[in-house]
Amino acid sequence: MLALVCAMISSLPRTCNPVTQWYQGNVMYEIFPSSFYSEHGMVGDFKGISMKTDYIMSLGVRGVRLNSIFHTPHYPKDFNNVTSLTRIDPILGNITDFEILAKHLHSRNISLMLDLPLYPFLRKLPQKVAFNQLNETSNLLKDLKANAEHDPIEEALSFWIEHNVDGFYLKGLEHFVNEPDFVKFIRSWKSIIGPDRPFIVSESVLNNAPPSVLNTVLQNVDLIDVRLEIENGMDAIKKQILTLQNSTLFTRSGMPWVQWSVGNVNTKRITDVLPNSNATLGATLLQMMLPGTPSIFYGDEIGLRQLSDPDGEREDIRHLHHLSMMAWPLKGTGTKVLPWIYGENSERPIYEQVDVISKMAHLRSESPSIYMSYVFKEMGEIRANAEIKYAQKEFLVIQRWYPRRRSYVVACNLGNSRISRDLSTLLYGGEIIVGPRADSRPGTVSFKDISLWPGESVIIALD
Ligand SMILES: *[C@@H]1O[C@H](CO)[C@@H](O)[C@H](O)[C@H]1NC(C)=O
Ligand SMILES: *[C@@H]1O[C@H](CO)[C@@H](O)[C@H](O)[C@H]1NC(C)=O
Ligand SMILES: *[C@@H]1O[C@H](CO)[C@@H](O)[C@H](O)[C@H]1NC(C)=O
Ligand SMILES: *[C@@H]1O[C@H](CO)[C@@H](O)[C@H](O)[C@H]1NC(C)=O
Ligand SMILES: *[C@@H]1O[C@H](CO)[C@@H](O)[C@H](O)[C@H]1NC(C)=O
Ligand SMILES: *[C@@H]1O[C@H](CO)[C@@H](O)[C@H](O)[C@H]1NC(C)=O
Repeated sequence: MLALVCAMISSLPRTCNPVTQWYQGNVMYEIFPSSFYSEHGMVGDFKGISMKTDYIMSLGVRGVRLNSIFHTPHYPKDFNNVTSLTRIDPILGNITDFEILAKHLHSRNISLMLDLPLYPFLRKLPQKVAFNQLNETSNLLKDLKANAEHDPIEEALSFWIEHNVDGFYLKGLEHFVNEPDFVKFIRSWKSIIGPDRPFIVSESVLNNAPPSVLNTVLQNVDLIDVRLEIENGMDAIKKQILTLQNSTLFTRSGMPWVQWSVGNVNTKRITDVLPNSNATLGATLLQMMLPGTPSIFYGDEIGLRQLSDPDGEREDIRHLHHLSMMAWPLKGTGTKVLPWIYGENSERPIYEQVDVISKMAHLRSESPSIYMSYVFKEMGEIRANAEIKYAQKEFLVIQRWYPRRRSYVVACNLGNSRISRDLSTLLYGGEIIVGPRADSRPGTVSFKDISLWPGESVIIALD
């Protein structure tokens, strides 16, 4: 079938690239809505995000995921303690504002996804009655439905799909993997979510799931969120990537893809955990060269820092310091901060990085070597198309390839000192396509003497 399509359009100048779902291989963007933007308010809101959709588009993002929108008693400070999976916290706006946001994003070809924080909202899944297998129109079904415990997750999925949500991250699902009806729930949720919207879960679901439910998870889930442990050094990153590529996820096509996060709603800002605080661009470019779907945490693209609190005045919101306010350039000098999480932000955000990330997003979307997560072998079998060429201390080189396409290499130095290496036994040379800095020009490079500044990553198209 694919070959036929290729043959049909072979008269066109464009080469026929492998087709993927929109959430496979494209760049995603995770937002904590109350720290993003508000025109007038103390707390960020949906209207604010709507006003910044052009910025989001300029990053080359294909999907936005809002990680926290539900009502809590003291939103946003206790954002995890939700009281409902359908009720928006009024601070963010109402459902009309949400729909307007969805419209703004969709008109720019950007999909909208939501986190549904199942835990601790639920401690147990509701009692499941097996009505899915029954005849949809029979009266028996109606009786059973009436008697079955109502499933707030099912209800939330249907509600948000009706309001144009394009994908769901079921957060905290790992707490339920041992419940008797887990498999039935997974199937029924995916049937509601449908084939074109991703069902996203954390890697910990795979790690905690007993063998008896693992297959159902793999068959129904579309993205497995994995945090790249960038602060542990290149050896750890190498091990993490190799272990994943050795796992079930890289055995057959149709397996869930990996969604790579570096920063997220639970971890410290990458600017504050990297040995070199100006290495966020290097880290993000590395993330964007991994096989799977990269998900950028808002602000990491400009090297946003944790809220700094030298005098301990914001100790009460210590668990939120990484959810610092997105910094927007103001006319003149300075940056705008939202009072709810106000704190000193000494370091200037690096807006120039946005252009580099955008360039990388476009390179990625056009190059199967990079956006594909694997290559096909035979009989539905696959293998990863990423090879770690070199990983020593703070220096990492990964090659991405695809049959009959140009290969690309990312070389990165996330450490504190300049590193030079002779890698001529591994690679020859190529042309620098993206990086090292916003103002750098493309040029040729030889692996006989490759040299990177602290915090620098370069993307090289191989000769
Ligand atoms: C939207 O993005 C997808 C990539 O996921 C692309 O294939 C499609 O052509 C885009 N549509 C428009 C209208 O730009
Ligand atoms: C969560 O909210 C409930 C009320 O809905 C409250 O009783 C509880 O103390 C809150 N827990 C936390 C950790 O804020
Ligand atoms: C949402 O709020 C706006 C004002 O900001 C109002 O015009 C609109 O009617 C509200 N929508 C709903 C469903 O309450
Ligand atoms: C479902 O039930 C309706 C009426 O009760 C019946 O007409 C229909 O044939 C049934 N469908 C199946 C697939 O059993
Ligand atoms: C990958 O799998 C092979 C064979 O199953 C094994 O020899 C190798 O040690 C594994 N590598 C990692 C990093 O798990
Ligand atoms: C990062 O900062 C160091 C000094 O701390 C500097 O030598 C290096 O060039 C910077 N790297 C980039 C990519 O700007």
